[in-house]
Amino acid sequence: MTIQAIDYSTKIPNNVNLTEDRQVLRALESWHPGYIDWWKSMGPEGFQEAMVYLRTAVSVDPKGWAKFDYVKMPDYRWGILLAPQEEGRTIPFGRHLGEPVWQEVPGEYRAMLRRLITIQGDTEPASVEQQRHLGKTAPSLYDMRNVFQVNVEEGRHLWAMIYLLQKYFGRDGREEAAELLQRRSGDPDKPRMLGAFNEQTPDWLSFHMFTFFTDRDGKMQLESLAQSGFDPLSRTCRFMLTEEAHHMFVGETGIGRTLQRTCEAMKEAGIEDVNDIERVRALGVIDLPTIKKKLNMHYSLSLDLFGSEVSTNAANAFNAGLKGRFQESKIQDDHKLDNANYPVLKLVDGKIKRIDEPALTAINMRLRDDYTADCQRGLERWNKIIERTGVAYRLELPHVAFHRQIGEFKNIQAKPDGTIVDDATWSRDKEKYLPSKDDGEFIQSLMKPVTEPGKFASWIAPPRVGIDNKPGDFEYVKIVA
Ligand SMILES: [Fe+2]
Ligand SMILES: [Fe+2]
Repeated sequence: MTIQAIDYSTKIPNNVNLTEDRQVLRALESWHPGYIDWWKSMGPEGFQEAMVYLRTAVSVDPKGWAKFDYVKMPDYRWGILLAPQEEGRTIPFGRHLGEPVWQEVPGEYRAMLRRLITIQGDTEPASVEQQRHLGKTAPSLYDMRNVFQVNVEEGRHLWAMIYLLQKYFGRDGREEAAELLQRRSGDPDKPRMLGAFNEQTPDWLSFHMFTFFTDRDGKMQLESLAQSGFDPLSRTCRFMLTEEAHHMFVGETGIGRTLQRTCEAMKEAGIEDVNDIERVRALGVIDLPTIKKKLNMHYSLSLDLFGSEVSTNAANAFNAGLKGRFQESKIQDDHKLDNANYPVLKLVDGKIKRIDEPALTAINMRLRDDYTADCQRGLERWNKIIERTGVAYRLELPHVAFHRQIGEFKNIQAKPDGTIVDDATWSRDKEKYLPSKDDGEFIQSLMKPVTEPGKFASWIAPPRVGIDNKPGDFEYVKIVA
């Protein structure tokens, strides 16, 4: 394994030898101004001139790939960085199992591959668009820096995907790359491709839930694309995953600090009853039942991103060797799924039942189950935080049938415990499970910016350690008025 140094001499930092790939370099250079326009108009609003303490990838060596420094976001060095090529890598699953990986796009899978890359690519700028207003209400400079870090890296992930489109898909790749800059999150005429990426991220609680739940869907998708027999896609995704870990860290610690602050404030005020919402809110913190409602919403929206439980598209992508399973190489089976079954939760005669389906068509279901298990581990860490404060409360993931727009349960309504209810009951009770307008307004009322170094808003505890081990009062963002 040789680690290719990153070339910073071209406008686009890269470790794919762009100086010797003139045609692709030209295509990327002509895409660049449109990207910068998009960033300036759809990226973090009001902070384009600020100096932000950001990490930038300077290597793809896992032992030291990033450096930190103050950067103006539009000057961030977005680059194209692939994990090192593995000598002799073979296709790890599907009907081409054991054959050498592809360095070029196999003609028969061209359309399928282009679609997978475009869908992944579309989520990257979408989240930047969803989060563009958050800088103005950041609860601290530390948190402000974190959202900007996530944003510039999602921008880089877009570069990662359009590089593949432009290098390997000729004219239609260039067209897809152009369209990725044209769609807009939440725009009724030209929306982003997936539902959760057209929702709003109106406040910081949403942002932290989004980075915990929706970026974690991103992780699962990248993990399964990292298995791909199309080697450039695999290498790109492997490097993206190093960055993605920080996004989930931001979400997990953001919610953890919010829970911590709420519970501490309740204890200080001697409030035992978590449902005494008025008294808790009067302390300037977010009550636990509202946090649970936000969790219910973001988890259910993120489950929809896995698509239908039973899917021939997913089976085809697996068979073709394009998209594998989570940690494919650690799974002990034939990696072809010839005669295997997988249990799928389905709606049968109005009841939720576990039914064995051919494992090949249940690929989405399996990835979603792996996702749920990953979420659950984070939830347990949150529950530990609550427990340590002595407040009697637990967070739980709602049932997978709860609040779904895609898949088996899209036409029914279920409570978070999985009990199916009729439409009238659902309409009457849904604000018990999902944030109401009033909840949203309350959260919004707490979203007051705090920009003094080392200070934090009333509703969130400070982090235990700083980014890059900086001290508590470090000025993570130098705001230019
Ligand atoms: Fe991303
Ligand atoms: Fe992400």
